[in-house]
Amino acid sequence: MATELDLDALLRDKDKHVIACCGSGGVGKTTTAAALALRAAEVHGRRTVVLTIDPAHRLAQSLGMEALDNTPRPVRGLESGSLDAMMLDMKRTFDDVVALHTTPDRAAEIFANPFYQAVSSTFSGTQEYMAMEKLGQLRETGEWDLIVLDTPPSRSALDFLDAPARLARLLDGRVIRLLSASTPGSRRSMLSLMGASAAVFTRVFNKILGGHLLTDVAEFTASLEDTFGGFRKRAEATFRALQDDQTSFLVVATPEPAAVGEAVYFSRRLTEERMPLDGIILNRLTPVRASLSAERALGAAAILEEDEPESPVAAALRTHADLARRWSTEQRVAARYEAACPDIPQVWLSTLGPEVVDLGGLRGFGAAAAERPARSHVE
Ligand SMILES: Nc1ncnc2c1ncn2[C@@H]1O[C@H](COP(=O)(O)OP(=O)(O)O)[C@@H](O)[C@H]1O
Ligand SMILES: [Mg+2]
Repeated sequence: MATELDLDALLRDKDKHVIACCGSGGVGKTTTAAALALRAAEVHGRRTVVLTIDPAHRLAQSLGMEALDNTPRPVRGLESGSLDAMMLDMKRTFDDVVALHTTPDRAAEIFANPFYQAVSSTFSGTQEYMAMEKLGQLRETGEWDLIVLDTPPSRSALDFLDAPARLARLLDGRVIRLLSASTPGSRRSMLSLMGASAAVFTRVFNKILGGHLLTDVAEFTASLEDTFGGFRKRAEATFRALQDDQTSFLVVATPEPAAVGEAVYFSRRLTEERMPLDGIILNRLTPVRASLSAERALGAAAILEEDEPESPVAAALRTHADLARRWSTEQRVAARYEAACPDIPQVWLSTLGPEVVDLGGLRGFGAAAAERPARSHVE
């Protein structure tokens, strides 16, 4: 049986400086990140910042993140310690990187370029990459001893790991040199210069960008030339930083086949990439504590209904049977993760109400996840 994940040990570990919560969309990544950050600050006294990607409006409000200004702000209402929170502004992060690596004139040129505008706001890996970039920036300041990172609601969890490599590929020096060799001419001159290979590049770029029109590629790549080297180095540095022991990855999943499938896939990828995966949080379980099985409940309901077809007790037994079955299914689905990844420590967490949107809710979430031994409270 997989071991239990001791979240408090992780949160108070002074050698851990980054905790990243990953998983497919809607499983509770943002909630987990916020709850763990709050607990690290309040219970363990660590100077913590949480970088969220897509917080629900009410959660953002509770964390004081109403203004999307791409800067960590202190969370008010803590019982002790201090916590900062921010939500990622992808475009602004990209702009900041450009501004930092080039002259104001060139930056203005880049910002005005339609290709840049497309890449910075719709490139399929931009959000993932910019989360990495922001993480790198927060680490550099040395202001916090723990950074808790929420990850983007990627369709595929893989996007998160692939983003730096994909961006690095896009920004690969050779591609840039070839494309910019044709500038300051028009796109036509670029195409004629490069002949057949231009078509190849266009195909590659289209693939990376998901079919965007590449009208100003040449101009764009020429003006970004200096910046590209920096981008790539940063992407690689952040990627390497994620592999060291100061980082801890937590996978979050709900007991649904798709989410668990994704969690297994993601766990394997993390392991392959030598990223330190410390545990899985199985979230939103709906345990049934009574020992009466679904079959016995249904049997008893049938007997009662023979005498009284509308029996309220029989109806209650049938409801119990539904819940008990759901719980069995959840346990079975959860067991698939364990079968696939037996060495990854686990935490099982119940659904704590309709939503977790305020500090009290986050505190409850953190306590339920960290204080009780993994499965005892749900089984
Ligand atoms: N254990 C839980 N109990 C109750 N509600 C939860 C729990 N975990 C998550 N939620 C709710 O589920 C929704 C999705 O969670 P969220 O953290 O935004 O997921 P993700 O970031 O993975 O997309 C939110 O409304 C959140 O409040
Ligand atoms: Mg989220």
